[in-house]
Amino acid sequence: MKRRRTIYEGKAKILYEGPEPGTLIQYFKDDTTAFDAKKRAVIEGKGVLNNRISEYLMTQLNAIGIPTHFVRRLNMREQLIKEVEIIPLEVVVRNVAAGSLSTRLGIEEGQPLPRSIIEYYYKSDQLHDPWVSEEHITAFGWASPQDLDDVVNLTIRINDFLSGLFLGAGIKLVDFKIEFGRLWENDYMRIVLADEISPDSCRLWDLQTNEKLDKDRFRRDLGGVAEAYSEVARRLGILPESTPPSGGGPVLVK
Ligand code: TMP
Ligand code: ASP
Repeated sequence: MKRRRTIYEGKAKILYEGPEPGTLIQYFKDDTTAFDAKKRAVIEGKGVLNNRISEYLMTQLNAIGIPTHFVRRLNMREQLIKEVEIIPLEVVVRNVAAGSLSTRLGIEEGQPLPRSIIEYYYKSDQLHDPWVSEEHITAFGWASPQDLDDVVNLTIRINDFLSGLFLGAGIKLVDFKIEFGRLWENDYMRIVLADEISPDSCRLWDLQTNEKLDKDRFRRDLGGVAEAYSEVARRLGILPESTPPSGGGPVLVK
């Protein structure tokens, strides 16, 4: 078998050379990290679930006209994506106070925000992804004012759509992180949604009980990480209803 060329290896995913120019294969690992990878674990089945959940969310977003890098899922852990030039920003959207917003500004976790808030973090492990403003982004050329305009417009639509989609599944979309890339088609460039959207990159709380169904279960040592991720998949209709939400062991998906 031909050995595939690794283009990039991150903490939770690997990008391999794709079958044709302009494509890549995105592989979802079970590796889980938090706090700049100071905390690490392998959560069995997590990569499989995130591959499916991200496929589902990207496909739904595509259907309402949000351009994404996603092409199709290839197998349990891999999806075919378009190669994009990643904008080095983590775009965070918050609907309810939690995490670093609560710590930084002293707002109690769970408090609904007066309106949705968009924040930017500069993607740099070495600098611990510092919080930055539009001023920094445009001054240092990480994105142009036009790029940022597109990013904000897409982000608002993504938040509105995903908030409704999760609400329908009995889940509160507290906050999430997304990334964008530049997709070049001849001389024409478009900003598209890239990376992944999964319980690794979102805060998802049960609507009734506020139970955490996301990576905070790992960050805060709450246990039941894979079970929570499969519960999200089940509620989105990705896993068959009969799949038990807990029970350990590898998770079988369609
Ligand atoms: P925060 O409250 O820690 O700033 O996180 C905000 C959101 O961004 C939350 O849904 C988790 C997500 N996130 C990532 O996807 N990657 C990261 O490295 C961090 C710090 C947060
Ligand atoms: N993914 C980040 C890390 O490895 C942080 C996080 O999601 O909490 O450190």
